[in-house]
Amino acid sequence: MTIGNYPATRLRRTRAASWSRALHRETALSPADLIWPLFVTAGSGVEEPIASLPGVARWSVDGIVARAREAVALGIPVVALFPNTPRERRSADGAEALNPDNLMCRAIRAIKDACGEALGVLTDVALDPYTSHGQDGLVDAAGYVINDATVAVLVDQALNQAEAGADIIAPSDMMDGRIGAIRRALEMGGHVNVQIMSYAAKYASAFYGPFRDAVGSGGLLKGDKKTYQMDPANAEEALREVALDLAEGADSVMVKPGLPYLDIVQRVKARFAVPVFAYQVSGEYAMIEAAAAAGAGERDALVLETLMAFKRAGCSGILTYHAAHAARLIGA
Ligand code: PBG
Repeated sequence: MTIGNYPATRLRRTRAASWSRALHRETALSPADLIWPLFVTAGSGVEEPIASLPGVARWSVDGIVARAREAVALGIPVVALFPNTPRERRSADGAEALNPDNLMCRAIRAIKDACGEALGVLTDVALDPYTSHGQDGLVDAAGYVINDATVAVLVDQALNQAEAGADIIAPSDMMDGRIGAIRRALEMGGHVNVQIMSYAAKYASAFYGPFRDAVGSGGLLKGDKKTYQMDPANAEEALREVALDLAEGADSVMVKPGLPYLDIVQRVKARFAVPVFAYQVSGEYAMIEAAAAAGAGERDALVLETLMAFKRAGCSGILTYHAAHAARLIGA
């Protein structure tokens, strides 16, 4: 009695040799899929390790330029910048975000001078690296983040970055209506080819801790970001967020965090057929490093397997702190 198609069909046949596995591989991972987040700090010749992100450092602008050149050499097309604003430049209204000579703008200009069109620069729009309270926007007396007043500041922040030479504006703040407001201002300011990659489905996640250490907002933040970032229980709402941001002029959308939210990536890709990116965030990076350090997994294999999973789920690219290491592994 034959049950099913065995032995005519043996799925192990195509897995038997490495040439055949290569031939049948459905998904490819390349350095061109990677976006490398970099933390900028004041000074020169400065490299500050971040304890909760082993292997990641903050760099002063000269070091950032060196990392940018490294990205080009490795075939990484984009770097994402985040500033560790000096404490004395943080304020309740985050005004340092609008300073044309802030760390971000200096880093953008230095990278564009060094690398030109060979490297895209993605910049984060949100006020948390600039506020004395660590929230992403302006807060009222009760500590509530005020939507519309915050959007007005974010528009000026985005213009400030675009004028410094940013190629992709990436609003990570989750205010309602900010994509349309930023798109309109970019168009009116003549920045018609500056892209917007919207953090469209960004969750109020426990995986952001090391990032907050890296930009120095962790110790300042009281409470959480649940009145603007999404509830991890929600998926339909993510589709609504994405639909709105696309209608408002986003060129691409992001899902964040990454690995625990691949179902969201897949649904967004299936529904909208637009470029979808995911952010493998700081806590995910730290988990992989901790697993490797504990001998619970092999680091290089964990890195490549998780990044491949993003591609398989439908991502056009991945923001990852492992970008340079992964690019070297892929190229090797
Ligand atoms: C801030 C921002 C955060 C991240 C990127 N932009 C943290 C937050 O929302 O608190 C997290 C990135 C990471 O954890 O790697 N707007």
